[in-house]
Amino acid sequence: MLKFGKYALGFDGIRAVKCAIELGLPDAMEIHNGPMTLSQLLATVGCPAGSLHRIMRFLTRNGIFRKEHNLSKSQDPESFYYSQTALSRLLTRDKMAPFVLVQAGPPGQSVGATAKDLKSGKGSGLKNTNDPSQDILWNMFEEFLGCHAEIATMAIINYCPKAFEGIRCLVDVGGHEGTAIGMLVKAFPWIRGINFDLPNVIAKASAIDGVEHVVGNMFESVPKADAVMLMWILHDWSDDLCIDILKKCKEAIPADIGKVIIVDAIMDEEGGNEYMGARLAMDMTIMSATEKGKERTDKEWAQLLNIAGFSRHTIKHLEAIESVIEAYP
Ligand SMILES: C[S@@+](CC[C@H](N)C(=O)[O-])C[C@H]1O[C@@H](n2cnc3c(N)ncnc32)[C@H](O)[C@@H]1O
Repeated sequence: MLKFGKYALGFDGIRAVKCAIELGLPDAMEIHNGPMTLSQLLATVGCPAGSLHRIMRFLTRNGIFRKEHNLSKSQDPESFYYSQTALSRLLTRDKMAPFVLVQAGPPGQSVGATAKDLKSGKGSGLKNTNDPSQDILWNMFEEFLGCHAEIATMAIINYCPKAFEGIRCLVDVGGHEGTAIGMLVKAFPWIRGINFDLPNVIAKASAIDGVEHVVGNMFESVPKADAVMLMWILHDWSDDLCIDILKKCKEAIPADIGKVIIVDAIMDEEGGNEYMGARLAMDMTIMSATEKGKERTDKEWAQLLNIAGFSRHTIKHLEAIESVIEAYP
């Protein structure tokens, strides 16, 4: 934890600030000596616009920079500009930048976006490799997935039980070792569960009452069921690949009574509830741990679902980082 005045940054935050320093954002603003639009910043630091927008969203929401409208108040990104704060003025190379870089630790020893990854247009992509330091991280990530599934599924059961009424068969696509579908089948015993994942993941899964483990690849086909759940799946993938996955899910469900239940974060550009800080931090983690993944706003979700051929969807917010989107063919 690094404290800046009233703001306290967790580990993701420190790494996002480190990335901003490596990109030269505080120095660029200091040299410019006035507010800058996103495209002015882009021209200076040279990384993809989407990634820079997400880093600046995180940093402004954490009080490092300030985001303001110009007088026209249009929603065009160029009508916003970013300006310095007392904190960002401290983060130039000749002031506290070296201190933050030391706090964030050496590259390659943790998950975190680097300026190099961002400039090349992709995250570092946490993978199961032969590199022992990456393998330790991978094992921690697997353990974290089990904990996450329990917490998120409990929130769904408590705040969104109606979503599961009338479902006879539910397939959890990318359900890992089946924690979520096991809990759902127990809470809603009229459901027959299918846990669907890659062969190496299913090989490690234990038997669960009411759940069948099925091996497969969601980019090829998804087992037929009344409903498909995608929890913490789509935020790992680019828009194009999400549309492919959603189309495969749509093929798996009946056109009249079927639905796809998406459990993922919904970003809010300006407001948001008390979980928004965690969502912003999660977006930084996703940016560094996946190649093209991202947390999406409600507009971005609507666009994906529309292109994938869904006719309508509803959104239910939970007391959690995630919300539940129910999408209908
Ligand atoms: C981030 S985890 C989410 C796990 C679980 N749904 C949760 O919320 O905790 C992503 C899961 O998707 C699985 N997955 C990745 N690619 C897949 C594919 N092509 N087909 C099926 N599952 C896949 C991974 O093995 C992993 O279990």
